[in-house]
Amino acid sequence: MKILGIETSCDETSAAVVTGEREILSNIVRSQVKEHSVYGGVVPEIASRAHIEFLDGIILRALSEAKLRLDEIDGIAVTAGPGLIGGLIVGVMEAKALASALGKPFIAVNHLEGHALTARLTDDVAFPYLLLLVSGGHCQILHVGGVGKYELLGETLDDAVGESFDKLAKMLGLGIPGGPQVEKMARGGNAQAFDLPNPLQGRKGCDFSFSGLKTAVKKIVDEGKHTPSDICATFQHKIREILLERLRNALEISPAQRVVIAGGVAANLYLREGFQALAAEKNIRISCPPVALCTDNAAMIAWAGVEKLRLGQADGLDFKPRARWPLVG
Ligand code: KG4
Ligand code: ZN
Repeated sequence: MKILGIETSCDETSAAVVTGEREILSNIVRSQVKEHSVYGGVVPEIASRAHIEFLDGIILRALSEAKLRLDEIDGIAVTAGPGLIGGLIVGVMEAKALASALGKPFIAVNHLEGHALTARLTDDVAFPYLLLLVSGGHCQILHVGGVGKYELLGETLDDAVGESFDKLAKMLGLGIPGGPQVEKMARGGNAQAFDLPNPLQGRKGCDFSFSGLKTAVKKIVDEGKHTPSDICATFQHKIREILLERLRNALEISPAQRVVIAGGVAANLYLREGFQALAAEKNIRISCPPVALCTDNAAMIAWAGVEKLRLGQADGLDFKPRARWPLVG
């Protein structure tokens, strides 16, 4: 089985071809950082226009790198939500047009499910597993029982983790995307430079809260007594402590031999070190997909398409893109 995947839910325009044998034949990702950086964040209208401009060419490149003609593809999978509605419409319309012209299945993929299943593509992880999903818009711990079988153990009550990285980068004028900039700036910084709060510390369960942390960091930035590298290092360290504490709680509630970390924030090497230390301590396996497959890409969407199509879960061409589309409920 060979599936073409399309991802246009935020500021990456991406197309990929993935096989049922877990091979990534191509995965072209075009970031729109250049278009958005002068505005300090993603501008939805500009994002949609850039997707329209580049998507056709990126699909053609993905096919040519995979050495396949369009008619050799067995299905078209596309991110149909959640995300910026303009971008979603661009990708979904393109996928529907291709599926309809080729007479091949159309598969509407939930972007979060793409992240959730990536470790099955890269590491062949078997169900069930515990999932920490940390991206620009989400921070959740889920029990993953199978494709479409997600149980929410806890989630953020306010900001997402990626969002708090992005906000700190903005306060410090580090540019976008914020996460990688903060990670870079944190290198060589003192991770114990000052005290930061750990909201919900000691509380049972797997909910998160990051807004108090953001306020505390803002105060420190405004006081101007610390270097940006100390601020980034201390912030990143506190985020790591919070994520690990909640993962520990999750492992008590829902013991698992296998844990998966997914979403853009999972690309952070300092956080990944912490996850591996926890894995060693608990004698379990914690999988983080390769860095390039943690941030948004179409290979994960194509793979979710493979998983869904195997189960006969194709969608009708009347499927509407969804700006909001929770994985659970
Ligand atoms: O999954 P993703 O690419 O897009 C969404 O689905 O939201 O995640 C993007 C988020 C952004 O907030 C970005 O700053 C963050 O992931 N991120 C990182 C790193 N790379 C990306 N956060 C911390 N450290 C990183 N290295
Ligand atoms: Zn994402």
